[in-house]
Amino acid sequence: MAAVGARHVLTDPDLRAPYEVDWTGRWRGACRAVVRPGSTEEVAAVLRACTETGVPVVPQGGNTGLVGGSVPVGLPGAVVLSTRRLAGLDPVDEAGCVVAGAGATVAAVQQHARAAGWAFGLDFASRDSATVGGAVATNAGGLRVLRWGPARAQLVGAEAVLACGAVLSRVDGPVKDSTGYDLPGLLCGSEGTLGVLTRVRLRLVPPLPDRRAVALVGLGTVAAASPLLAALRQRLPGLAAAELIGAAALALGAGRGVQHPLPGPWPAYVLVETAGAGALDDLAAALADAPGVGDAVLAGDAADRARLWRCREEITPSISAAGVPIKLDVSVPPPVLPEVWAALPGVLPGGAELILFGHLAEANLHVNVLSVPDAEKDATTGAILRLVANAGGSISAEHGIGRAKARWLGLTRSPAEVAAMRAVKSALDPSGLLNPGVLLA
Ligand code: MLT
Ligand code: ZN
Repeated sequence: MAAVGARHVLTDPDLRAPYEVDWTGRWRGACRAVVRPGSTEEVAAVLRACTETGVPVVPQGGNTGLVGGSVPVGLPGAVVLSTRRLAGLDPVDEAGCVVAGAGATVAAVQQHARAAGWAFGLDFASRDSATVGGAVATNAGGLRVLRWGPARAQLVGAEAVLACGAVLSRVDGPVKDSTGYDLPGLLCGSEGTLGVLTRVRLRLVPPLPDRRAVALVGLGTVAAASPLLAALRQRLPGLAAAELIGAAALALGAGRGVQHPLPGPWPAYVLVETAGAGALDDLAAALADAPGVGDAVLAGDAADRARLWRCREEITPSISAAGVPIKLDVSVPPPVLPEVWAALPGVLPGGAELILFGHLAEANLHVNVLSVPDAEKDATTGAILRLVANAGGSISAEHGIGRAKARWLGLTRSPAEVAAMRAVKSALDPSGLLNPGVLLA
């Protein structure tokens, strides 16, 4: 049996500490040990041993999750299984696919793809730490979903170890396969509750042309955002991103050493990027004809583009620097986005600071709320999620359910759906040892 070497079993509290708290500082726990297997066989040995002894297992990738799904909260007897050593990258194959270890970072896969003349369709601000295993386990989205879809759309196959130690491996062979249940697809979004992903086979995409243009557009109303995006989509085949940013979010994002690029005050902004020869002229012309544009700043050269993108990418770190927020990733049917945006302040307690931004094409809204007393955080979260559910939305469109939203799953998943999820869970993990308390509370 492949045993994990002693130096990869961390029991010292100081060594365990970084694995026991999440990136936001909101989720904190303690575990008996952190185990860092270096191969699929070692993962299987760990899981077999844990099943035999009844020890819960909390799988963890880059620990950049935002819903407490990879931290041993309330599980002092658990083992954290870190996948970070499973970081190998196979050569890109003829079909434009790559098999990556679950612990490879998103940035490492991006660089590997680039070196082979391809690109990886997934991108988000935590790319240097987030792992592809974690991204698949949570069906992560990010900045390029408009163009390439979420993690699920990049996934061709997966290898995972079940709680009993059995290895499900579908990372070789044909890229098209219609034989029965899509097990890799089932593992995608399962948040470590069904098995531990060890390798993923990812579909790469053609690289975006180097010629790019970015614009930050000020809008007089949030309702102007969707018609603007529709107009830009029709005009710009190279459109690669469209981010919606509320005024408070942009003030935070632009606040950390970046000069505010488009002082308004505009109630909302859209950051768009397009790629292709003539990108800057095409974007300028499209914006000139598009409805709802209050003001706009455009950038063609790389440094100016990066400055505009920084205003978006600094929002999350700036929120964390200001406090521990309520952090949600809801989505709503696009036509009701302005209504939900306008109604949100009404469900917050007095003194709360609301920061709104998100991914416009999917009406995926990041609702962050600061300055809510701890005692009111649950009630406030429930009120926001009920507002979203009543508007026909989803309580999670990007970060997953984790521990943070498990009790509200039933708001947007029917009793029949939750029962089917529980049936799958108990078939694959009958003792309930994989990530207890996550997704299905
Ligand atoms: C983002 O889009 O920046 C991420 O989902 C992070 C966040 O919600 O804070
Ligand atoms: Zn996001």
